[in-house]
Amino acid sequence: MFQFSSLLALCLLARLVAAGPCDIYASGGTPCVAAHSTTRALFSAFTGSLYQVKRGSDGATLNIAPLSAGGVANAASQDSFCAGTSCLITTIFDQSGRGNHLTQAPPGGFNGPAAGGFDNLAAANGAPVTLNGQKAYGVFISPGTGYRNDATNGIATGDAAQGMYAVLDGTHFNNGCCFDYGNAEVSAHDTGNGHMEAIYFGTETTWGTGAGRGPWIMADLENGLFSGGTAGNNPADLTITSRFVTAVVKGEPNQWSIRGGNAASGALSTFYSGVRPNVAGYNPMHKEGAIILGIGGDNSNGAQGTFYEGVMTSGYPSDATENSVQANVVAAKYATTSLVSGPAVSVSSAVSFRATTACCTTRFIAHTGDTVNTQVVSSTSASALKLSASWTVVAALSSAAAGCVSFESRDTPGSFIRHFDFELMVNANDGTQQFAEDASFCPQSGINGQGNSIRAWGYPTRYFRHFNNDLYVADNSGVNTFDAASLWNNDTTWVLSAAFA
Ligand SMILES: *[C@@H]1O[C@H](CO)[C@@H](O)[C@H](O)[C@H]1NC(C)=O
Repeated sequence: MFQFSSLLALCLLARLVAAGPCDIYASGGTPCVAAHSTTRALFSAFTGSLYQVKRGSDGATLNIAPLSAGGVANAASQDSFCAGTSCLITTIFDQSGRGNHLTQAPPGGFNGPAAGGFDNLAAANGAPVTLNGQKAYGVFISPGTGYRNDATNGIATGDAAQGMYAVLDGTHFNNGCCFDYGNAEVSAHDTGNGHMEAIYFGTETTWGTGAGRGPWIMADLENGLFSGGTAGNNPADLTITSRFVTAVVKGEPNQWSIRGGNAASGALSTFYSGVRPNVAGYNPMHKEGAIILGIGGDNSNGAQGTFYEGVMTSGYPSDATENSVQANVVAAKYATTSLVSGPAVSVSSAVSFRATTACCTTRFIAHTGDTVNTQVVSSTSASALKLSASWTVVAALSSAAAGCVSFESRDTPGSFIRHFDFELMVNANDGTQQFAEDASFCPQSGINGQGNSIRAWGYPTRYFRHFNNDLYVADNSGVNTFDAASLWNNDTTWVLSAAFA
C-alpha cells in the first residue's frame, strides 16, 4: 500500500513536471480553448498534428507532429519533404480539441495581396529556432501574410473573460497595422470599438505607445492599440529588447492586463492591470470570437512579426498561472539557429553570381544604374562591366537578420542590392529599418542542387530570380509574372565565384 501510493505520487510528480502550458492553464481553472504552435505540443499528452505544409513542386501536403507526446515538432520531416522546392504553412492546428485551426485569411475590410484577395501564407522555413537543442520552425509573417478562423468553438464573446499568451520574435516587427494574435470580428470587417481583444506587438504609434522607441506589447481592442488604461502613452509599457518575448493580454468585465517578459529567461512583468478604457464601446466589450494571426480584425495586413506558440483561454487566468506558463516557456529553451545553408557566402569576400538556367549560364548579376539585371560577362569584358557584376559581401544591414548578408556594389560603394516592390535595385543606404531589411538576404543551398539560392530575409518565400534578364525576389506561389513556377528552381539558383573585379 505504501509502495503503491509512493508510485502514484511519483507518477503525479512526473506528470506535473512534464505539464505543458495548457495543462497549467487547466489546473488554474482557465483551460485553453485554442492552442497554436508550429514548434511544440502545448499539452503534455498531445501527439496530433501541429501544422501542415504544402510543397510548391507538386502541391502535396504533409502534417507535422511532435517527435513525442508533449514534445518538439518533427522539423526533420518538413526538411526532407520540402527539399529542393518551396513549402508554405497552410494550417496551424488547434491542439485544444475544439477545432479552432488557423488557415489562410480571407479578404476583409482590407483586401489581401494574393489571388482572390486572400492573404499570403508563411514560408515554412522562414523562422528556424531550436527548443532544448532540437530544431523547429516558427511562423514568419511578412507584410501581406495572415491566418484566421471566423467560425470558432469556445472562444470568448461579448464581455466574457479570456486570457492569451504568445511567444514571438522580439526583433521582427514594424510600424504597420497590425501584427496581432487573438480575438477578432467574425466578419473580417471593423464592426466597432471593443469587438476585438488581441495581443499586438510592434511599433505602430497611431493609437498608443509605451516607454522608449518600442517595440511594445499592446492590446488591439479595435480602433485602438492600447498600451494602458487610456489611449496614448503608457510609460509603464516597456520597450521589448529580448530576441524571444512572451506577450500576455487578458480581459474580464471592466478589468484587463498587459504582461510580458523574455521568453528565454526570467519572469513576466505587468505593464498594465486595471479598468477598461473610458471610451464608448470598450466597457462592456463586444468580443466576437474569431481568431487572427498576423493581421488586424479587418484584415489590415501591413505588419510583420514571428509567432512560435500561443493560446487563448476561457476565463481570466491568474497571474500565478501565467507565471507558471512563463516558467514552462523558459524551460522549453528557445534559441536561435542559423538562417543560412549551402556553400558559405563569407563576409568581406567579393563575389559574382552566375545564372544556372540553361539559357543563361554566361550571364551574371550586374546592374545598369538602379536596375539589377543579368548580363553576359567574362574575364575579357570591359572593366566597367566586370565591376558592375561584382559585389562585396557585408554582414546583413538588418540586425534582425543576424548571420545573413548584404551585397554592396563594387562600382558604387554605399549602395546595396535591395528589393523594392519585389524588384531588385541598387540604392544608396538611407539608414532606415526598411532599407536594412530590404537589403538583407540569407543564402541557402541552391534550390536546383547547384550553388546557392539567395532568400529575401523579410520575405522568406522569395529568392533572387532572373526573369527576362531582370532581377526580382520571386515566389513560385506568388501572383506576379516574375513569380511564374516554370523554371523557378533554375532561375533562383546561382553559382557564386570570386568577383570579376
Ligand atoms: C535546371 O537545373 C537542373 C539541375 O541543375 C538541370 O539538370 C536542368 O538541365 C536545368 N534546366 C534548365 C532548363 O535550365
